[in-house]
Amino acid sequence: MTHSHILGTGAYAPSRILTNHDLEKIINTSDAWIVERTGIKQRHIAADGEVTSDMAVAAARKALEMAETTPAELDMIIVGTISPDMPMPSCAVFVQAKLGATRAFAFDLSAACAGSLYGLTIADQFIRSGRAKRVLVIGAELLSRLVDWEDRSSCVLFGDAAGAMVLGPTPDPERGLISTHLHSDGTAAGALMIPGGGSKHPQSEEVLAKRMNKIAMNGREVYKYATRALQDVILEALAANGLKPGAIDHVISHQANVRIVESVVDRLGIPREKCWLNIDRYGNTSSASLPISLDEANRAGRLKPGDLVAMMAIGAGMAWGSALLRW
Ligand code: ACO
Repeated sequence: MTHSHILGTGAYAPSRILTNHDLEKIINTSDAWIVERTGIKQRHIAADGEVTSDMAVAAARKALEMAETTPAELDMIIVGTISPDMPMPSCAVFVQAKLGATRAFAFDLSAACAGSLYGLTIADQFIRSGRAKRVLVIGAELLSRLVDWEDRSSCVLFGDAAGAMVLGPTPDPERGLISTHLHSDGTAAGALMIPGGGSKHPQSEEVLAKRMNKIAMNGREVYKYATRALQDVILEALAANGLKPGAIDHVISHQANVRIVESVVDRLGIPREKCWLNIDRYGNTSSASLPISLDEANRAGRLKPGDLVAMMAIGAGMAWGSALLRW
């Protein structure tokens, strides 16, 4: 059975930047508080009229170019997002149309910040089974339209961006995806949600008045859950492959908070220099953050052929996972 490899990566962030100092003028916060608690210094904000599929397409074009793949060669497009252009149809079909990926079937995946990792897993399975030869996995989020700009405990965290990966089969046993490990725990759903706008609380004046169509988060609960779950899922991936933390050359993580990532690698005994960190520039871009980090590390020449890359992500659900691959 052939396994898959990442053939190209791409990223896009809108040019408009909102710094912590800009936020100080809008809400009762400070640059010092945000940097100390999260590591975030600025975030990108989509332009008026820009939508999630626009950002997804911009990232996808770069990944396709690197993978030397045309849109018409794509068999499948997966977009991990909680902020699609509209509830129906999927963001992925707009991406398909804008790219002109006429042969591909396309769908969205709802796993919040773990969306790209879930997408990577599905892509890998389709490639391993021989059902697909070229798969585009995108994480794209326009969270600035979903945050409650009156809730200082959450609005300072998020940003808009997209990241993309093109996967294909590789016959090389020394390279490519080794394994992925996914988990969910719906009993913890209350820690992070957008409670309104779905079948439970359909759009209504009350939903709008109570701001139930915006992100509501218990930061402490998320923090505690995330650090434990990410540590466990990296250990699970290593154990499944008979490896120890010392074998990891690079950690490519979802960037929710610099303290979460550092606490996980510290506990695993992995040097912090092995983590690609960019949350200072983007904030938390949910499903986009993992492919953006991979793209930055890749384009910076950090990833050498054969290096062991450990990926980890966690988000609302809770939904989380890890992946191990040889670059
Ligand atoms: N500016 C200034 N003060 C603030 C702000 C702000 N933006 N937000 C909250 N505070 C205040 C609070 O009101 C509180 O004040 P009080 O002590 O007078 O009541 C104080 O700061 C401490 O608040 P806590 O919420 O206890 O602060 P904490 O140390 O837990 O940090 C944070 C909050 C940064 C949200 C942290 O809990 C965290 O990072 N959690 C993870 C959440 C996360 O990453 N979510 C992203 C989505 S999920 C994911 O991607 C994995």
